[in-house]
Amino acid sequence: MLSKLEHLRASGKSIGFVPTMGALHQGHIALVLKAKSENDVVVVSIFVNPTQFNNNNDLLHYPRTVESDRELLENVACDLLFLPDVSEMYPDGLVEPVTEIDLAGLDVVMEGAHRPGHFLGVIQVVKKLFDCIGICKAYFGEKDFQQLAVIKKMVKEWSVSVEIIACAIVREDDGLAMSSRNIRLTNKERKVATQISKALFHAKEMWSKCSLEEIKKNVTTLINSNPEFQLEYFEIADATTLKPVSPGQKKNVVACIAVHLGAVRLIDNIILG
Ligand code: PAJ
Repeated sequence: MLSKLEHLRASGKSIGFVPTMGALHQGHIALVLKAKSENDVVVVSIFVNPTQFNNNNDLLHYPRTVESDRELLENVACDLLFLPDVSEMYPDGLVEPVTEIDLAGLDVVMEGAHRPGHFLGVIQVVKKLFDCIGICKAYFGEKDFQQLAVIKKMVKEWSVSVEIIACAIVREDDGLAMSSRNIRLTNKERKVATQISKALFHAKEMWSKCSLEEIKKNVTTLINSNPEFQLEYFEIADATTLKPVSPGQKKNVVACIAVHLGAVRLIDNIILG
């Protein structure tokens, strides 16, 4: 992959890169389209990275739909598909990710607290993927808000020659954030799932008028009124540091949520101000 891309770069072409784990949907495609609008050549990778799954069952059931993924990518004229296998990404076997990186606490809250080791696995594979692609602009979705923050920090800490571009969350018509995991929901669960974004939109409405405690209580009550949900966390945090907001802080604030719905774990977030 690298030599092919070096050749393109040598002839003056800019490279846009979209790393994914496949089971592609319009959220991924929006990243590809943005990459296409800003670069000469777009590479998409599909690799279900074992080291970022802290739950083996989740890894086992992660949807794999390579043929329809290929078709979706062809339809938007994606230039190159990078489909490495585990032995290509991990020639020495599945080694533990490095831990010597200062992520300024970005990896210990929310997803980091509930999925131990997850972000070290993400960093490990994203760094390897960046090494395979070389200098490029790489596109990440705000759907995984904390992942985006962690990757930006990793690039800064390790002086990686990749420019990180953030892309807005793409939602279904009823507000549910698109996710590869949505296809695992039953029809009934899929209907209930709309309550997640509804609760976030409600939090945004409350933001200018209510206290943090009122918003937290309201969202928790809304989610818990559906017996199908198991709320894992709802946090309101500084959108840069992901630390608790300071008293009176109204700008640069994000609300993040994770819920279990049947066998599926879903995350979503919204900028409050
Ligand atoms: P995956 O979940 O496949 O997501 C790939 C990219 O698509 C991520 O940057 C994610 O934030 C973005 N994305 C997913 N759903 C989206 C939506 N509804 N709107 C906008 N963007 C969306 O995230 C990963 O894979 C992996 O952790 C990866 C970075 C590839 C490392 O293995």
